[in-house]
Amino acid sequence: MSFAPGILQGKSAIVTGGATGIGSFIVRKLGTLGAKVGIVSRKQENLLKAVKDFKEEDGIDVAWRTGDVRDPDGIKKAFDELAGEIGGIDILVCNAAGNFICPTEELSWNGWRTVIEIDLNGTFNCCQAALLHLKAATDGGRVISISTTQADFGWPGAAHAGAAKSGIQNLMKTLAAEWGQYGIRANWISPGPIEGTEGVDRLIIQQGLGDQVKKNIPLGTFGEGDDIANAVVFLSSDTGKYVSGAGLAVDGASQWNRQR
Ligand code: COA
Repeated sequence: MSFAPGILQGKSAIVTGGATGIGSFIVRKLGTLGAKVGIVSRKQENLLKAVKDFKEEDGIDVAWRTGDVRDPDGIKKAFDELAGEIGGIDILVCNAAGNFICPTEELSWNGWRTVIEIDLNGTFNCCQAALLHLKAATDGGRVISISTTQADFGWPGAAHAGAAKSGIQNLMKTLAAEWGQYGIRANWISPGPIEGTEGVDRLIIQQGLGDQVKKNIPLGTFGEGDDIANAVVFLSSDTGKYVSGAGLAVDGASQWNRQR
């Protein structure tokens, strides 16, 4: 089951962190449904491999720039150049993130600051950098940020990421209220555990929590990258045209079954 072919024809999208993990599923989906897509991430080798794979496996040409979401000027330059290449920015997916597990009492100031800067400040930087392009989008710009259901609870071992992802949710609510006048919609998606991603491997499997986490997912399985990508399509196409300032959990209901 999928969306109508060409549903995103004529749209241009930027996905931060689009070379790997959930971001790469989003890129493939947007691209195969007709959008022109640009990706930004820090490592050129990841970008080059991804662009080759997108072309060979999905037949889509994806534009790319290196950039660190923590660097507002660098991101603005990358976005402006990509917008020139892909025909503007109708859809911005703020997906780039960093995280590591560390108990708060052992977390250094620099460790805290680093994750806040990537996840929260990085999302702010990308929204600011894209604003003029989003304002110019013919059918209204869309901002979709990737948060997590963990942000709605305490997140032992990830105070930095939990605080940042909560902050992202509030930022999306505020942008929805402030930028609605420009026809811009701002929403967030909260993925649950998505199989095959570095996040699940490192934060769940390598912590020895795989079986326990899966047992507590009411739908019984980890999610797939496409589950998140489909939610992005819903929010970025006309199907979600009256949705703004909202969060969409895509987590197999796992947030409602937090047994320990
Ligand atoms: N435990 C405790 N502290 C850690 C840590 C860990 N596992 N990983 C990083 N830090 C601390 C560092 O020690 C440093 O603090 P210090 O100067 O007080 O020692 C601070 O965080 C910055 O780390 P650094 O590696 O210099 O930052 P970076 O900008 O190069 O990378 C991350 C930051 C978050 C991207 C990096 O930790 C990382 O590569 N994470 C894995 C990839 C990832 O997060 N992917 C996202 C999918 S979930």
